Amino acid sequence: MLTIPWSRTSGWGQPKIGPRQDLSFDPLAGVLQYAVTCFEGMKCYKDEQGQLRLFRPNKNFDRLKRSAARVGLPDQWDNAELLDLLSKLLSLEAPIVPAGDGDNLYIRPTLLETSESFGIKEDAFASEALLYVVTSVNLGKGLYASSEGSGLRLDACDKYIRAWPGGTGSYKLGANYGTVSVAKQPGFAMSLWLHTDGKEAFISEAGAMNVWIIKEAKDGFTEFITMSLDNGIVLPGVTRESIITLLNDHASGAKAFPVEGMPKNIRVVERDISMNEIIEGLKDGSLKGMFGCGTGVVVVQIGLIRYQDVEHTIPTNPLIKLLRDTVTAIQRGRVERDDWSYVIPEWDGLAHEHDVDGQKAIA
Ligand SMILES: Cc1ncc(COP(=O)(O)O)c(C=O)c1O
Repeated sequence: MLTIPWSRTSGWGQPKIGPRQDLSFDPLAGVLQYAVTCFEGMKCYKDEQGQLRLFRPNKNFDRLKRSAARVGLPDQWDNAELLDLLSKLLSLEAPIVPAGDGDNLYIRPTLLETSESFGIKEDAFASEALLYVVTSVNLGKGLYASSEGSGLRLDACDKYIRAWPGGTGSYKLGANYGTVSVAKQPGFAMSLWLHTDGKEAFISEAGAMNVWIIKEAKDGFTEFITMSLDNGIVLPGVTRESIITLLNDHASGAKAFPVEGMPKNIRVVERDISMNEIIEGLKDGSLKGMFGCGTGVVVVQIGLIRYQDVEHTIPTNPLIKLLRDTVTAIQRGRVERDDWSYVIPEWDGLAHEHDVDGQKAIA
């Protein structure tokens, strides 16, 4: 576990790497009282050469800064320094990073307010905070297996609204998750979040993934359509952005799609998608598939949506597997794409260990 304390008076303190341990706070700490906490989700992959890799880590660090600013937590740090500290933690954990396809070490950077936050504060900013990173071995077979078969079953939820314009949906705040986890229905992998303009229900995202539909357009193009970021409802996913870049570069001819099989006449569209559009697209055959993407699932087929007690089966589409295989290959360093896959330098932590406040610290 990596911990870095912060205080308003002295800024970032001494980083420490040590065994995972409980944290203790004042019972009136901001994190406990007002959910002043944000986090990130990343994965460390072991490639065929045994090297450890991260996928576009600066994107996660930038998003953490953005989330932190939204809830009055410190949002100023040097991403290169944080990457160096994270790399040291992961180097020490190299022996437990699994190498199998779909397996990885899940990484959870977390930032929270440890200082007392109670009643009306003088200003919106934390006086003390803690940034920590913990990891967890992830043998990701479950969702991979379901994407090979008939895809995920989603429950379209109109009882609990996850996000709305002007809210916090586009930030990775603990509160966005804790307040809607009660929506999860048995027999469904996750909830499909809906929002409405007062007339129609639109899909936003599902569980912890951005959602896409694949449609055949009138001009014969295959359209990859995902919710736009404009109204601040969905999380700006790193996987989403990467897929948009891969598809747009292929469509424009700037860079061919890195793995064989993507048709030439494709188009990326970022806009609202209504439930009616999905239902109509199933009826007239223009809806050619649906998938979710995110660090957790990579790319996973959506096989069924339950909406207002009706189950809608979504057709499978081989392009979904192509996307998943491509993103996976880039993440694991089998396919090169710019500097998206970061190789963690090897590091012998023990040579740098010393005691700080009775704990092992690494500098
Ligand atoms: C609500 C939500 N949407 C989308 C995503 C996908 O984002 P990313 O691709 O950065 O993992 C996540 C996961 O982080 C999420 O929690």
